[in-house]
Amino acid sequence: MSSTAGAGGVPAITLNDGNHIPQLGFGVYQVAPDETAATVKTALEVGYRHIDTAQMYGNEKGVGEGIRGAGLDRAQVFVTSKLDNGFHRPDDARRAFDETLQALGTDYIDLFLIHWPLPTLYDGDFVSTWTTLEDFKADGRARSIGVSNFQIHHLQELARETGVTPAVNQIEVHPYFTNDEVRAYGTEHNIVTEGWSPIAQGKVLGDPVVIRIAKSLGVHPAQVVLRWHIERGDVVFPKSLHPQRMKENFEIFDFEINDEEIEALTALDRGEAGRRGPDPDTFAYIAD
Ligand SMILES: NC(=O)c1ccc[n+]([C@@H]2O[C@H](COP(=O)([O-])OP(=O)(O)OC[C@H]3O[C@@H](n4cnc5c(N)ncnc54)[C@H](OP(=O)(O)O)[C@@H]3O)[C@@H](O)[C@H]2O)c1
Repeated sequence: MSSTAGAGGVPAITLNDGNHIPQLGFGVYQVAPDETAATVKTALEVGYRHIDTAQMYGNEKGVGEGIRGAGLDRAQVFVTSKLDNGFHRPDDARRAFDETLQALGTDYIDLFLIHWPLPTLYDGDFVSTWTTLEDFKADGRARSIGVSNFQIHHLQELARETGVTPAVNQIEVHPYFTNDEVRAYGTEHNIVTEGWSPIAQGKVLGDPVVIRIAKSLGVHPAQVVLRWHIERGDVVFPKSLHPQRMKENFEIFDFEINDEEIEALTALDRGEAGRRGPDPDTFAYIAD
């Protein structure tokens, strides 16, 4: 895994298939569909060149409109989406993928992920879903493919059954849930970790350790936490509806955070008790 300077001063990380991903992006979970185009346009004006959406968020159309509204070429923005839980069967996955491209108004996506492994559904079969994503990569409509919320044993099963390594694994990571075992497996197998809810949906920002470090550096608590992720080598895409916060979350490359500060933030880990989202081993939600 290597990184080089990319657009807007954001490092670009090289994926195991040779493609590059901006290490800092903008997430649109819980951005209302009718507000997404304007929100994405503002984020792109701030400087973000990487947008993380999902079929489940219902706002892919707004993402496409936001990119076009900002007057950017498709190639200037790295776009990720994710297969919804109800569409794991290969025929459904193919149809849903076509719909994603149509909603985004594009003929390719930079990165497409299986959103959740759902090991208690589909007879525990996520392998046939994965091989369907491999077809999207082979026909060029998905430049890179990966997974989300996969535990080590799910990744091991994919490796055993297909021999193909996902480019990324997008998992919950923040100082209260460092998820270091899954991250270490990723590092060992050349799978880039993307950390979702990087500021724990705001919940780590009042932590005394975060506040102490932020004060000593003269920066905002969110900037400290986001820089911690960057130093650990993960890809992140904080979400905010507020232009000032979008800007704050983007301006994290003009200060230094030292090893002692990084260790102090990592030591905030609460293990499973710090997890905010569902447990990937039991999560089995399918929308009506
Ligand atoms: N793969 C998955 O299963 C999965 C699951 C969850 C999330 N994700 C992805 O990860 C992205 C980020 O995660 P997230 O949206 O759950 O949480 P997050 O980015 O950790 O936090 C977002 C929350 O923090 C607030 N916030 C943002 N910047 C702030 C700042 N500088 N100061 C104070 N508050 C701030 C936002 O409020 P305002 O909007 O009001 O500013 C929002 O309530 C998502 O958008 C999505 O793309 C993926």
